[in-house]
Amino acid sequence: MLRLRHFLDEHCENADISGIIDGLMVACKDIAYRLHMGSLAGVLGSAEQENVQGECQKKLDVISNDLIKACLKGMPQVKGLASEEEPDPVACNESGRYLVLFDPLDGSSNIDVNVTVGTIFSVLEAAEGADGAHEQSYLQAGQRQVAAGYVLYGPSTLLVFSTGNGVHAFTLDPRIGEFVLQRRDIQVPATTKEFAINMSNQRFWLPEMQAYVADLLKGEEGPLGKRYNMRWIASMVAEIHRILTRGGIFMYPYDSREPNKPGKLRLMYEGNPMSMLIEQAGGKASTAFENIMEIEPTAIHQRVSVVMGSAEEVDNALRYHA
Ligand code: AHG
Ligand code: MN
Ligand code: MN
Repeated sequence: MLRLRHFLDEHCENADISGIIDGLMVACKDIAYRLHMGSLAGVLGSAEQENVQGECQKKLDVISNDLIKACLKGMPQVKGLASEEEPDPVACNESGRYLVLFDPLDGSSNIDVNVTVGTIFSVLEAAEGADGAHEQSYLQAGQRQVAAGYVLYGPSTLLVFSTGNGVHAFTLDPRIGEFVLQRRDIQVPATTKEFAINMSNQRFWLPEMQAYVADLLKGEEGPLGKRYNMRWIASMVAEIHRILTRGGIFMYPYDSREPNKPGKLRLMYEGNPMSMLIEQAGGKASTAFENIMEIEPTAIHQRVSVVMGSAEEVDNALRYHA
């Protein structure tokens, strides 16, 4: 049994980054406990307020955000934080070198129906003299992430992360309250017969995406020559975890419902951290037109179109967009 702390000691040379990942798990264990208690903890339902992106917040979006925020504010390594649920970045400790960005609860439409949700995080190094309260400090391409990961709250609670040296998974052992190593150096299978996309948006996609998905649906009679299966959990953490485990392609492409937004998902809290994990595991992550992690962000809450997963299947999708 290898505990997270010991794995980090042996595996991650940067003690500050180890401390951030380990420290974040204090909040994530608390979130896991509250999710587990569900209605008994009075945490289900809507918070009856909107976040900065105009989305209706769930009580647990707010609770999770507050728990992670309090946790990060207590870490000397952390200069500032940015959250999907916060309008502006928040300064933490002036002497800290790192910026932590997070989606406190991903897939929150699943909370009230007792389906898997997650927490996603991304760590950047602050530039010399950067201000933790200033949006500009956070506008770095995904390639500059020094760590990324997620905690999945499912039948078991898992931590999956990368510090740029492979992707590793840990299971929370509730008997001892510690994450223990489940699998190291995860690799995404290069080929797959499984895709994930919200088909209800089909008519709003670009013609290129419509053509690709139409061919997926043609199965062995179509140009892709195989019969595909489909999954849609509406929780990116759960979809990416499935893909890291058995391969697949996950897409939330541009659609014309909100034509001015490049996509639904957020670049800094969802696109970049998940791209780092997928690429570290040998998969690919693209907008369909460019590598997600090469995008130079212009706003902290900016959106992105997402096509990621098994390398050969992402290549198939990209051929339709070339
Ligand atoms: P969040 O709960 O943080 O707002 O993110 C939900 C995201 C993502 O996890 C999921 O893949 C997608 O939104 C689901 O969207 P639809 O409800 O449009 O299918
Ligand atoms: Mn999310
Ligand atoms: Mn969220």
